[in-house]
Amino acid sequence: MNVKIPRGTQDILPGTVEKWQYIEQIAKELCRNYQYKEIRTPIFEHTELFQRGVGDTTDIVQKEMYTFQDRGGRSLTLRPEGTAAVVRSFVENKMYGDPNQPVKLYYSGPMFRYERPQHGRFRQFVQFGVEAIGSEDPAIDAEVLALVMDIYKAAGLKKIKLVINSLGDIQSRTAHREALIKHFQPRIGEFCSDCQSRLEKNPLRILDCKKDREHELMATAPSILDYLTDYSRTYFEKVQQYLQDLHIEYVVDPTLVRGLDYYNHTAFEVMSDAEGFGAITTLCGGGRYSGLVSQLGGPDSPGIGFAFSIERFIAAVEAEGLNWPNENALDCYLVTLGDEAKDYSVKLLHDLRSAGLKAERDYQDRKMKAQFKAADRLNARFVAILGEDELRANQITLKNMETGEQQQIQLDQLAKILKNKMEEK
Ligand code: HAM
Repeated sequence: MNVKIPRGTQDILPGTVEKWQYIEQIAKELCRNYQYKEIRTPIFEHTELFQRGVGDTTDIVQKEMYTFQDRGGRSLTLRPEGTAAVVRSFVENKMYGDPNQPVKLYYSGPMFRYERPQHGRFRQFVQFGVEAIGSEDPAIDAEVLALVMDIYKAAGLKKIKLVINSLGDIQSRTAHREALIKHFQPRIGEFCSDCQSRLEKNPLRILDCKKDREHELMATAPSILDYLTDYSRTYFEKVQQYLQDLHIEYVVDPTLVRGLDYYNHTAFEVMSDAEGFGAITTLCGGGRYSGLVSQLGGPDSPGIGFAFSIERFIAAVEAEGLNWPNENALDCYLVTLGDEAKDYSVKLLHDLRSAGLKAERDYQDRKMKAQFKAADRLNARFVAILGEDELRANQITLKNMETGEQQQIQLDQLAKILKNKMEEK
């Protein structure tokens, strides 16, 4: 039997997984500085959560969910995104009662969407996301945007662009919705079947259609920014004012529409401008949601958040030709000669590791030359060579692989001396 990996998924092997860890580490450290705390929710949830939370008319709910029945006949779905689940947990655990509002959370884990796989688009991908729930202060919008831009900056990304829009409040959206229907209705027959069914259900999503992008009515469609209420307009201006104060560059794109239903007020995406990044340029998406918490049974608590996939983050780092840190270098490889030295190396290796050193030895009974080759392959900074005579004399030879310099030291001092050398670096 020759079973292959499912389409749209990938094995992340040693040598690549370090890139993932590096990005996750950057993001987690910045979340700590910004005071976002980790939350872990289940990989699957009741299907209803996403139908209601993400929205019945979205592509995600209509055609991309991995839904199955469990043995008890319940309909469950592998999570396609994190926001609905985090909000469910916020409500279920009564986090709205926490005196520290907004509740600031981050998450990282696999999400599942039955999409057509292509470069940067997978059926299983890892999202890193944050949600700040319990405040409708434009300063928190600016904070969330500053956080995501700081994460990209910390990885060295330069060719990125922050695009923002306001989707307004309910009143703004209702007025805009009517204007959109009026605009598209007379010629809706010229649009694709998806757009036709969107006209009544969710006309805003027509603006996001890939197939009808070039249709002349797209360019002349009414802009949401012309329909904002005073409150929404002032809110959006304030967010922009804060971004300017923080020297965060951005562009306003009134056609930016997000693919999920829960957004209002600030919506945003971060795009990559790097050449060779590929057709899908969105690195990160997010925005504000006001009705989601109450829709899922909680109080009227507004939230804002973003999510990006590590897959696209890595693609952006590579498209910009940035270096990855080399976390793999070994501190010390033990080369042994003779059985007694080999036996002793079990303890010696353990001592080195207990001292916090990255250490390895041979398990293939290889000759000295082959052991040195293995040390090279593992990128060892030092090789410690132990022969039988040395063992008896409580000595060991330490070789610096970069300079070739060799010295004899006391065997029981090896861990301490190596540790000092590592700290010198
Ligand atoms: P989204 O725009 O659906 O938003 O996804 C956010 C990000 O997830 C995308 O910008 C992209 O980096 C990544 N992503 C989505 N689908 C795929 C895929 N098939 N393969 C690889 N990466 C993918 C959300 O999911 C919202 N929950 C974001 C949010 C949080 N809004 C408020 N809070």
